[in-house]
Amino acid sequence: MLNIQVKDQRNLVTEAELFQAMKDAAPILARAQAGEAKYADSQGWLDLDKWAGDRWLKEIEALADRVRKTSDAFVLIGVGGSNNAARSVIEALADGSGCEIIYAGNTLSPHALNKMLRSLEGKDYCIDCIAKNFETLEPGSSFRILREAMAKKYSPEEAARRTICTGTYGSSLEELCRAEGYTFVPFPTDVGGRYSAFSYVGLLPMAVAGIDIRALVRGGAEMAARLHAEGAESNLALRYAALRNLYNRKGYTLEMLASFEPQFRWFNKWWVQLFGESEGKDGKGIFPVAGEYSEELHAVGQYLQDGAPLMFETFLDVEEPTDHLIIHADGKRDFFDYLNEKDFWDINRAAFEATVTAHSGKMPCVLLKVGALDASHFGQLFYFFQFACYLSGEILGINPFDQPGVEAYKGWMFKALGK
Ligand code: PA5
Repeated sequence: MLNIQVKDQRNLVTEAELFQAMKDAAPILARAQAGEAKYADSQGWLDLDKWAGDRWLKEIEALADRVRKTSDAFVLIGVGGSNNAARSVIEALADGSGCEIIYAGNTLSPHALNKMLRSLEGKDYCIDCIAKNFETLEPGSSFRILREAMAKKYSPEEAARRTICTGTYGSSLEELCRAEGYTFVPFPTDVGGRYSAFSYVGLLPMAVAGIDIRALVRGGAEMAARLHAEGAESNLALRYAALRNLYNRKGYTLEMLASFEPQFRWFNKWWVQLFGESEGKDGKGIFPVAGEYSEELHAVGQYLQDGAPLMFETFLDVEEPTDHLIIHADGKRDFFDYLNEKDFWDINRAAFEATVTAHSGKMPCVLLKVGALDASHFGQLFYFFQFACYLSGEILGINPFDQPGVEAYKGWMFKALGK
């Protein structure tokens, strides 16, 4: 189970201050635990059974099985919340037992799109167009070029059999599916893209890639049970939400999610989107950035240690070894003999601990303890951060479920293209 520890040599936020902030936010927690009428169209994710209960999992597993039996590859067409959750787990955990997952619908670059099309050559594949609002240009245009590619490779009936769409009931995407004989599966009407990990949106691509989606949902459900039971004085998500808002008020306006496990590379993107799109509103919000250590220590590490004091760090601290690799002596004078017979797991931990010691003299470091890097913990992380983001947005005083800024850019783009 996840846990939080704070390392801050200057004690910027005292336990008493944090305790008071959590107490002050008790009504926000109580409302979130009960579900709020004003957000009824966005809170279908709060109860995991609604879109990730056994009935749905059986359906998803059956469809994933059908895809795996007929395909080498599966094209996930989706942008933002429509691809980030699935991708973060697949890139971290897929072991080759399922289909190769290829991503489309998240770019308009012809170079990237041609590369994606080339990567499908010689492979049998299915496609899944995931779009809540089937007006978004990136997935809509990728869906077109993939339909064209499929029409060249398969008969119309076979291409239709290989086409899945994840859309909302009553949408133009559903109509298209009915007209063309594509498989239509639901994008929850009451869940926004970035909160949709526990639904067809996130779970179908994961299942196709061979991820244990039941373990993931169980992890999410355990976290949900905990966050709905814990009161304001001990609630883990409230603790994190209150802390980050206190840091923000003290001038720390950026949060860096950092980890020494590159397996989190795509999870970082999911997290950045969740907090960036949910909180950056009304001239407010903590700017989310992510760092993959050790790499970033040799880049923004300098800024973190010596630059303007803008940032606090949240570390994903994986406790159980992800792997082992011993570095052996080879008798050459390379001056690295102090590493002889050490395990990279321990070397990486030493680098992590050294970084926290160095950084916590300059900025607050929040350590989010993640027991192990597996499907169950990804489930816990998804639910934890979604719930924490909701609480944090409420403390900040913004609506964590809309994205008016994104809609604005879409409007200008449609105008430029003559829609
Ligand atoms: O989280 C969100 O709501 C957004 O990031 C959407 O997921 C993203 O804009 C894609 O939207 P759509 O699926 O409607 O094309």
